[in-house]
Amino acid sequence: MDTQMESSCSKTRNPFTGAEANAVSVKVDHVCKSFSGVEVLKDISFEVIPGEIFVLMGPSGSGKSVLLRDIVGLDVPTSGTVTIDGQDPSLEATRDRVRVALVFQDGALFNSLSVYDNLALYPREHRSGDEDSISQKVMHALKILSVEDAAYKFPSELSGGMKKRVSIARALVMEPQLLLYDEPTSELDPVMSATISEIIATLKNEYSVTSIVVTHDRALAQTISNRVGIIMGGELITLGTPAELFATKDPRLVDFLNPKIDIKNPRFKKLESTKPS
Ligand SMILES: Nc1ncnc2c1ncn2[C@@H]1O[C@H](COP(=O)(O)OP(=O)(O)OP(=O)(O)O)[C@@H](O)[C@H]1O
Ligand SMILES: [Mg+2]
Repeated sequence: MDTQMESSCSKTRNPFTGAEANAVSVKVDHVCKSFSGVEVLKDISFEVIPGEIFVLMGPSGSGKSVLLRDIVGLDVPTSGTVTIDGQDPSLEATRDRVRVALVFQDGALFNSLSVYDNLALYPREHRSGDEDSISQKVMHALKILSVEDAAYKFPSELSGGMKKRVSIARALVMEPQLLLYDEPTSELDPVMSATISEIIATLKNEYSVTSIVVTHDRALAQTISNRVGIIMGGELITLGTPAELFATKDPRLVDFLNPKIDIKNPRFKKLESTKPS
């Protein structure tokens, strides 16, 4: 499987969808990231084509969330570069030009604001429409995610899955060209997980949104992604179509994607007996 794709730019026709519109490309070029000398991302390179659904999978702690923060410009790589349509995402000018939204792994809602005000914050700050049109957008997004009854609750009054859905609704209201999701279906029941997959696919098909989705959800990766990359130990060890990936014989991937539960030979080490001898 290839770890590189043909070079892309904002007007490139998506080979998977034919989408042109205003979807953006993302280029991650030899990105390394260290915290206090500990290397978390090791020379990661890939390109996301406009309108593509690009999934990243990998074991817990492998660096997926750190990479998303670098892509949206909340943090910067120690070396290497990230560009969105050729622009540095950490610059104010890029944020003014390209609408980028990140659905955080923990929701990252403002606790002091109601659900409604969390969603209305971005359009109000960017003066996109009067209060009536903002209200329509907010309530529509909450309805799509089946959380309209929570509009006037505060984040502390929501379940984990409700917070997740509200944070996805907040991202939808931002009408992004690039939408990144960090574990969008964790904490959700199977029907709601399927709904989220359908939303991601619909945004791509009907609005040419470019999506990067970090997930442990195999069904999501298999059904809606164009390509899947696997990060292990901070390295992008493979990148290909879902069909290629799920047919792999690479033992590291087989064990990660299809772990067998073996109670006679558990992976964890048993504690030594603490009984006095
Ligand atoms: N701000 C930080 N300072 C120091 N270390 C960090 C920081 N952020 C992340 N790390 C470390 O980087 C590594 C990768 O973290 P990351 O959150 O990207 O993992 P992940 O792949 O998203 O895992 P999970 O699937 O559990 O969400 C971890 O060892 C984590 O402790
Ligand atoms: Mg994470």
